[in-house]
Amino acid sequence: MMPADAAQYREIRLEGLKCSPEAFGSTYETESVQPLSRFSERLASSAVFGAFRGAELLGIAGFAVRNGVKEAHKGLLWGMYVMYVRPDARNAGVGRRLVEEVIDFARQRVELLQLSVVSDNDPARLLYTRLGFIEYGVEKNSLKQHGRYYDEILMALDLRQKQDAAAHTRRVDTARCEERPSATIAFT
Ligand SMILES: CC(C)(COP(=O)(O)OP(=O)(O)OC[C@H]1O[C@@H](n2cnc3c(N)ncnc32)[C@H](O)[C@@H]1OP(=O)(O)O)[C@@H](O)C(=O)NCCC(=O)NCCS
Repeated sequence: MMPADAAQYREIRLEGLKCSPEAFGSTYETESVQPLSRFSERLASSAVFGAFRGAELLGIAGFAVRNGVKEAHKGLLWGMYVMYVRPDARNAGVGRRLVEEVIDFARQRVELLQLSVVSDNDPARLLYTRLGFIEYGVEKNSLKQHGRYYDEILMALDLRQKQDAAAHTRRVDTARCEERPSATIAFT
């Protein structure tokens, strides 16, 4: 997605924070007061992918290379910060397609793709596991909101492995997918 998509990005991002507050590291209260320019800056400074059906934005996922010379071989799938599919578009392969897109993008840039996911988020854990991510750790009490603690599962995908390591788990989606430029995925 491009900075010009900031309004659509903001809308789906705030929807995600409101509807799935336990899935993300940020909060609706924090981001809903941020100006639109903050969202367009985020789109300008990082790679955010959008899945579209026509003009409708169905879901988003993000990627960033880790900071620092010694960590530049590692990238982050922004699960805790971005990954979201609208409820009425779920269970149709949109999340899978978005993560596959991030993996393909990351493969050209880093050796290892990492993410974290709240331990009781079974749909997201299954999605990542199906695409080859391996759980390598747990951060106990990583998040705390309204007095409740949440553990985070740390997952990683070694991108130096053969490309088809995860491909054998791919299914043929009922939705037809086509590539679009500017980090968008079209679902028709
Ligand atoms: C997690 C989420 C992105 C999944 O998106 P989705 O479009 O429904 O996922 P898909 O239809 O592409 O499913 C992909 C895989 O995930 C698994 N999966 C997804 N939702 C599932 C569910 N509710 N129950 C069980 N498995 C599920 C399936 O195993 C599926 O594997 P398959 O393709 O081999 O059948 C979506 O549920 C969501 O946005 N949740 C709220 C926000 C969130 O949790 N974000 C992640 C933060 S780390």
